[in-house]
Amino acid sequence: MAGLSTRHLLGIKYINRADIDLIFKTADNFKEVLNRPIKKVPSLRDITIANLFFENSTRTRMSFELAEKRLAADVVNFSASNSSVKKGETLLDTVNNILSMKVDIVVMRHPAPGAPLFLSKHIPAKIINAGDGIHEHPTQALLDAYSMREQLGDLTGKKICIFGDILHSRVALSNVFCLQKLGAKVRVCGPPTLIPKHYASLGVEVSYNVKESLKWCDVANVLRIQLERQDIKFFPSLREYSQFFGINKRILDETGKKTIIMHPGPINRGVEITSDVADSKDHSIILKQVENGVAIRMAILFLLAQKE
Ligand code: CP
Repeated sequence: MAGLSTRHLLGIKYINRADIDLIFKTADNFKEVLNRPIKKVPSLRDITIANLFFENSTRTRMSFELAEKRLAADVVNFSASNSSVKKGETLLDTVNNILSMKVDIVVMRHPAPGAPLFLSKHIPAKIINAGDGIHEHPTQALLDAYSMREQLGDLTGKKICIFGDILHSRVALSNVFCLQKLGAKVRVCGPPTLIPKHYASLGVEVSYNVKESLKWCDVANVLRIQLERQDIKFFPSLREYSQFFGINKRILDETGKKTIIMHPGPINRGVEITSDVADSKDHSIILKQVENGVAIRMAILFLLAQKE
């Protein structure tokens, strides 16, 4: 069996369609394992994985840790907030110290775009990008596309709209790369101040009209307003944002169709999405995304561990 074309997962930009298909096929097998009474297999026995989180996380961090434990890997966790980074240690020194403890795979979240790429050029371990600043979040895009495919089948020609704060979102860019590789039609929709000009040159449609975009799409992937990355005001107030760009039950019902609603989390309830939409049994697959994240991350860890 041919493996992945790469020994790291730095971004969706750096993998191809065959890699995505292989990750999905492998995730199908692990999803079956996760539904067994005993959810553990010995595939990564004797492999040591370090989860290095220089930025906050709930879903990605727990999902990776569970995936690693389900594969019987040895796991060490590191949080910048309670580490010697606070005493001025550099990224390379931190990682080299961890690697001297014989670590095979590093899963890293970092606020600086390109930090995982930088590491991959300086250390021998395999690197998985768990989100680098506003750049990429490849495992989120893979679990998103996998969840869409579970609902809609082949994504060729399917219409996916990413709503919200595109400017500060690593999920948006990774989703665009992944969905385009799978043949979907991709649109982004939000206030003009939160959509970077270069998105049109990526071959995605750009819209500022939420109602029309909701009518257009098969899947609405709604993103969080990332206030922590905004040092200036991009819209007058959260109340106005929610009024003009939030997804609520009224405008969803007006489309008269069963649009699939997704959100990578964490959700700002009542801002980019109302609770009745986020929790809607008819539309929302938000918790299925989280469930699928474990199988997708097991697949990526397993496949990268096979690479020389
Ligand atoms: N979706 C996502 O990356 O969530 P966390 O920040 O909680 O990991």
